Parts: sequence; structure tokens; C-alpha cells
Amino acid sequence: MPSTNCAGHEELYAELNGYIDSVKNQPGSLINVLHRAQEIFGYLSEETQQHVAEKLDIPLSQVYGVVTFYNFFSTKPKGKHQIKVCLGTACYVKGADRVLERLKEELGVDLDEPTQDGKFSIHAVRCLGACSMAPVVLVGERDFYGKVTPDEIGKIIEKYKEE
Ligand code: FES
Repeated sequence: MPSTNCAGHEELYAELNGYIDSVKNQPGSLINVLHRAQEIFGYLSEETQQHVAEKLDIPLSQVYGVVTFYNFFSTKPKGKHQIKVCLGTACYVKGADRVLERLKEELGVDLDEPTQDGKFSIHAVRCLGACSMAPVVLVGERDFYGKVTPDEIGKIIEKYKEE
């Protein structure tokens, strides 16, 4: 297991351990523990998964199986602002792939990886239910942009740079 001497890191694990002890013997505790771990750390690293397996006394493969089965669990850190680009059929036909390419260029990252300053990450999603506005980009949970062109990407990102 990688070294965990950073104080903040240890405190976070202490918080997780407290939670694990409180639910350890309940049915469905693995999912609940993983949810809590993701809330605490932002994502589920291999180290965190290993820790959960040890504390619950179950094989790592069982933890990994659950983490990869549910798409709300993430094994990579995400940016503060998550930019979701719809790659559903309607959006794709209207040029979502070009929008995505421009985003990657502007932020200098690939899909599902955070920018160096941790502010942004880009994620591909399926139909967001707004096909008439294709191509569609969603920033965070609420900021919705429709009929987006690659040239508008810079302006959209700018809005979140200072936040
Ligand atoms: S395909 Fe993108 S919103 Fe439906």
C-alpha cells in the first residue's frame, strides 16, 4: 500500500474507519461504505478500495467488482467543474465530437482526467434528454449549454476559471 503519512490523508481515513465500524455488520454495508468513501475522497483509488476490503474483511476483487459495476463510482479523481459532453446520436450527428476535441485541446486533458489545477475534467455521457438542443454540454449538475459550437468552448470554460 502507498505511504499515507500526510496528516489530512490520515484524518480522512479515520473518518472512513469510523463510518465502517458503524455499518460493518449491516446488510449492504459494502455499497454504503463505498459511497461514504467516495464522498470523503472524491473518488475510489486502488488504495481506498484495498483499505475497504481489509476493514470489511472481504476480497479486493469483491470491492472492485462493485466499484466497476455501478457507474456512479469513480476510480479516478474528477475536476471541481465536471464538463459532460453528450455523445448520444443526435448530439453526435450535430458535431459533439468536434466540441469534445476542442474541449480536450483547450484544457490539455483527455477524457476522465482532471486538469493540473484540478479545476476541470471532461466526461462523455449518453443522451441527456435534450436532443432538440444538440449538441449539448452540461457543466456541473445544472449549467446546461445547447447548440454548442467548438468556437464557444473557450467562452464557456472562462466562466468557471475563477470559481
Ligand atoms: S443525444 Fe444528446 S441530448 Fe439527446
